[in-house]
Amino acid sequence: MTYVLDEVINQKLNAVFADLGYDTKYAVSKISDRADLSDFQCNGALALAKSEKKNPREIGEEIAAKLRDDKAFAKVSVDGPGFLNLTLDDVFLADVLDKMAADERFGCALTKQPKTVVMDYGGPNVAKKMHVGHLRSGVIGESVRRIEEFVGHKPIADVHFGDWGTPIGMILAEVIAADGHLDKMETYDIAEITRFYKQANIRCKEDPAAKENARIITAKFQDGDPIYRKAWQHIRNISVEAVKENYRELGVHFDLWLGESDAHETCSVIKKMAEEKGLLEHDDGAFIIRLDEENKPKPPVIIEKSDGGFTYQATDIATIKMRVDDLQADEIIYFVDKRQSLHFEQVFETAEKLGIASGVTLRHIGFGTVNGPDGKPFKTRDGGVMSLDDMIQMSKDKVAESMPAPDEAKGFSKEYIDRLTAQIAIGAIKFQDLKNNIASGYVFELDDFANFDGKTGPYIQYAVARINSIMRKNQNLAAGEIVMTNPEERALGLKLTQLNNTVFRAEADKEPSVISDYAYTLAQLFSSFYNASPIMGAETSEIAASRLALAKLTRDVLIKLLYLLGIEAPEVMLKA
Ligand code: ARG
Repeated sequence: MTYVLDEVINQKLNAVFADLGYDTKYAVSKISDRADLSDFQCNGALALAKSEKKNPREIGEEIAAKLRDDKAFAKVSVDGPGFLNLTLDDVFLADVLDKMAADERFGCALTKQPKTVVMDYGGPNVAKKMHVGHLRSGVIGESVRRIEEFVGHKPIADVHFGDWGTPIGMILAEVIAADGHLDKMETYDIAEITRFYKQANIRCKEDPAAKENARIITAKFQDGDPIYRKAWQHIRNISVEAVKENYRELGVHFDLWLGESDAHETCSVIKKMAEEKGLLEHDDGAFIIRLDEENKPKPPVIIEKSDGGFTYQATDIATIKMRVDDLQADEIIYFVDKRQSLHFEQVFETAEKLGIASGVTLRHIGFGTVNGPDGKPFKTRDGGVMSLDDMIQMSKDKVAESMPAPDEAKGFSKEYIDRLTAQIAIGAIKFQDLKNNIASGYVFELDDFANFDGKTGPYIQYAVARINSIMRKNQNLAAGEIVMTNPEERALGLKLTQLNNTVFRAEADKEPSVISDYAYTLAQLFSSFYNASPIMGAETSEIAASRLALAKLTRDVLIKLLYLLGIEAPEVMLKA
């Protein structure tokens, strides 16, 4: 059984509250807001004061008096209007750290209410190269997926491929314009398809008739015309392959490779349900559902366009039904650009009206854009859209500048160096993305994002590699029981005990930056610890063994944190 410090402290508070006849719902601790005063705090006395009609300080003192009998606390004080400040005893803290080190979950609880969480991220579109916007969705979604899994939920990640709209009709029209038929369709690879799409885009912008033609063709393949369907299938297949390769390189995983097309049949079911419930209206040839116009007016949802095609909104509503019915989702979370907020509000409200997701939590986690130094969406040097490939290559080139040449790195093959370069480059890109609050956009720092110093992925990777090297140097020493001998050890140790709290906060808020912040602080605290607390020069062999244990635990926790961010932790780092 994992020993969870937060729970243990709450149990201690609980016992005291119960003993004094106070409502135990206020017996909760949190990490202290005043690290100068305490390690943990409990604000229960303030809450109790109202119902008990007593002075909060008086209640605080009563509770404090009892807590002072507990050896776990070195100091218990009541401060300000009645804050209860708790400082852990060093022996107790060291024992907690020993327990963490012996536990494969490092003292992290498992959720008491495991849920099936369907996660919708990635969202690439057929025939279009992935750009940096798709990067954010994939990087954030993957990190949250790992966090959900770690705390004991069951995440199911679905890429929700954009494979059903007009772009396909445009490509088909373009191929027909070039070849006169679709017979050669299956000989075209992703580069050719992408070229057709680009041409089609230009043509449709200039010529309304071309646009109309693409629309008609779209309706045809959606309707099931076998020749058009076959061509569509080919475009979808090769696009999925290309996208899979991209995500493989980024370390982004999906359980399902479904798309908008998979919702097609269910769209008809939705339309019928809406009709039966009296929600469907015929409006100017289209079928729509009006939304609550009183509280927060929103435009109606268009289910079916006047040409008979289902909309992006319809596919999303149908997909909710499928995720609830087939996947038994308790929660569905969308990691999509925040500019689509209104779309999701409309979709969620419609789902509620239709009763297809009762008891299911629907959540849109909207994120901001990746910007260039000018504050506008990130572009290539020549002003084009920055594709994911370009960005990965750019990052690799940057990292390669600080890598030794293979003949200078003794004992390391070119393959190792190439792989290391990729691990660092991807780590740098991801960390830069995940160090920011999700909702805000960020400026891609071209010069600093891959530095070994500063708040970067490589800095954390380097901290891990450094501890690995410390462990190798002390191979003849075994890690022992942890003891606290100086303030730097204590600061590091205390931070380590906040892992459980950190992970659960990140999970609740779907916010990987909680993890990246913590990892950065932990790596910094390790540096101060190691400067102040030599292992080889330790006063006694027990202290040396304790420091080694603390170093090892820090390393293992950092590796876990990097994992939760979707970043690899290379064993050895090299520098030119
Ligand atoms: N393919 C869409 C786009 O590129 C994103 C899909 C997001 N997921 C969803 N269920 N709507 O904008």
